[in-house]
Amino acid sequence: MHIVLAGDHSSLELRAYIAAHLGELGYSYTDLGTHSTQSTDYPLWGAAAAKVIASGEADLGIVICGTGIGISLAANSVKGIRCANCSEPYSAKMAREHNNAQMLALGARTIGPDLALTIVDAFLTSVFTPNERHARRVEELETLDAGGELPSPC
Ligand code: RB5
Repeated sequence: MHIVLAGDHSSLELRAYIAAHLGELGYSYTDLGTHSTQSTDYPLWGAAAAKVIASGEADLGIVICGTGIGISLAANSVKGIRCANCSEPYSAKMAREHNNAQMLALGARTIGPDLALTIVDAFLTSVFTPNERHARRVEELETLDAGGELPSPC
């Protein structure tokens, strides 16, 4: 499994902490950056990491901005990407098991480093469990992502 990391200027410290953790666990990863403390725009980094996933060059992605919100929105703008912004491990596990999310977003200013590692571990060790209803719901997300329509539930 290959993992891509990216984040804006707020993410440097947390991203380095996560990268070291991934290395200790033997994961293969690429850290796209930013490698500078200079202010930079989170959409650039969310999109860059998402494109690496969409092209198949990496299997899972972890992206970080101050809150995780902006960078998750950017990643989700790339076709085929499901990126979940999580602040606790249960959601990260569910993002894989139920939503088949390929990307995890974290907030460097909203969670501490050790909580971040528990979220990362939950995300990386969980797998999509496609029973009929979860598979159908992810297919519905894919339909929306492709610009298609879903039947109205109302
Ligand atoms: C940058 O200061 C901040 O706006 C960004 O990291 C992120 O929190 C946006 O969602």
